[in-house]
Amino acid sequence: MYEHLTKAAKDALKRHFGVVPDVVWEYTQGPERGDISTCIALQIAKNVKSSPRAVAEVLEEALNGIKGVSRTEIAGSGYVNVWLTPEELLKGLIKTRTACTAKVKRNKEAPVIIDYSQPNIAKPLGVHHLLSTLVGQAVSNMYEHLGYSVVRWNYLGDWGTQFGKLAVAVEKWGTKSNTSAYTMEELLDLYVRFHDEVENNPFLEDEAREKFAMLERGDQKLRTFWEKVVSITKKELQGIYDRLNVRFDTDIGESFYEDKMEGPVQEGRQKGIFITGEKGALIVQFPVDDRLPSCVVLKTDGSTIYLTRDLALMRHRIDQWHPQKILFVVDVAQSLYFQQLFATVNLLKWKLPDLEHVVLGRMRFQEKSMSTRKGNILKLKEVIEEAIVRSKDVIRQHEDAIQTDKIEELSEMMGLGAIAYGILSQNRKQDLVFDWKTFFSFEGNSAPYLQYTHARSRSVLRKANQKGIASFPTVDRLSARERKLIGMLLQFSIVLDEACATHMPHKLANYLYTLCQDYNAFYNSEPILQAPEPSRTLRLGLTACAADVLKTGAELLTLRVPDRM
Ligand code: ARG
Repeated sequence: MYEHLTKAAKDALKRHFGVVPDVVWEYTQGPERGDISTCIALQIAKNVKSSPRAVAEVLEEALNGIKGVSRTEIAGSGYVNVWLTPEELLKGLIKTRTACTAKVKRNKEAPVIIDYSQPNIAKPLGVHHLLSTLVGQAVSNMYEHLGYSVVRWNYLGDWGTQFGKLAVAVEKWGTKSNTSAYTMEELLDLYVRFHDEVENNPFLEDEAREKFAMLERGDQKLRTFWEKVVSITKKELQGIYDRLNVRFDTDIGESFYEDKMEGPVQEGRQKGIFITGEKGALIVQFPVDDRLPSCVVLKTDGSTIYLTRDLALMRHRIDQWHPQKILFVVDVAQSLYFQQLFATVNLLKWKLPDLEHVVLGRMRFQEKSMSTRKGNILKLKEVIEEAIVRSKDVIRQHEDAIQTDKIEELSEMMGLGAIAYGILSQNRKQDLVFDWKTFFSFEGNSAPYLQYTHARSRSVLRKANQKGIASFPTVDRLSARERKLIGMLLQFSIVLDEACATHMPHKLANYLYTLCQDYNAFYNSEPILQAPEPSRTLRLGLTACAADVLKTGAELLTLRVPDRM
């Protein structure tokens, strides 16, 4: 956008100083400082042996009087601020409107594989599982919306000693003859019981290991047991994922790779990358410059581990999908692990897509009662139930603002939205704070606030009997509030691109929050339905545009937004 301004600026710089730099426009904080601004004068002044101010003056002269520009100013030590004409600003909103519809899939392009959620099953799904699940889903949604083909991959931890433990527990303390008859809850209780009993009877660990070894060797009875547990767990997971608006293209898990590790292991040996370490394990030693500790590929007894499976998984993904990128959305605790994994496949000289560990901080709890719970796992299901209860409270407390006859539906939307938005509005690289107060604050950076603002804008449109955005009328001037709102709306596609490229959903969330504030300020200060023409049409158009952006953005963040509340 604004190519003609850029061209005029470049031509003038070339004429005066003989240089053709990249002129970049940024949106300003608000219309007091123009609509867009550039700091190019500051950047090139030294190079062209001039002062920033002198360069800025050249630019000002070049831009003044150009079509679409209504005024310019030099600010600070050399910023050039530009006010655009109403026509030019409104023209820009076309791009915002297109950004609200998903781009046509670039089918021929290689997909982006996104590996997220990945619970280790047969263990309870804890509240911390939300991080990878939600961040991964939001990132997938953004890629898909921008036209990429994506493979959403729930790499289930469906293999490992936890099945041995569960098998021991079911055998010893189980009360049902058929495994399929257990509920998820009952299985988890048995699993927890194993951990309690092991304190007094450490031999249970050996029994569990032996059971898992039998499963690995293909014991028929254990195999059936395993299948039943996996199927009970998957059903349970599906229920939660549905409520969270999370969905996957595949849930191929660790067990799938049981018989596919041989190839990569052989290859590594042959290439001399995998060597026998001191204690007899097969290890990878990295070049000194990598500054990475060596890591194990096969244990001393020849058994495989997490890394061995990831090598097979990498090979499989590359061969089957030819992806352009693979993202692993995983806790920061595995940072070293992923460096080692990526370094290993590099040493193997595989032709690799971009690989990124999308790092997640730890979850912290604002409320003591949540962090000091006994049994140390806060079950996701219970957290969701609590969110629903809290939504109902919020709805009740704001009965003058919220009128709904669909309280169940609304509290579901609000409760799950509050959790999702509460997490996704925080920088994923830092520790994420779980705080009910912030998550539900009705006037703050929260899902209820976003949902309420969206419903409010839709209600204005309903009253005007208008659905989408009509075309914008020609107006001579814009009020400060209108200008500010337009400025925010114009930034939507830029923010979305940036949030996707950096895999940082919080950039989108925080943008939506500011947009809500600007829309509410506009709503509170400008008459819309009662305004004279052409203001009425203009303001309804802006309302529709804001509603669409809020809805699109919220849905990318896995939220559902009500049309009325
Ligand atoms: N299930 C693993 C865990 O909970 C995370 C899996 C991450 N993905 C991968 N391909 N390693 O630790």
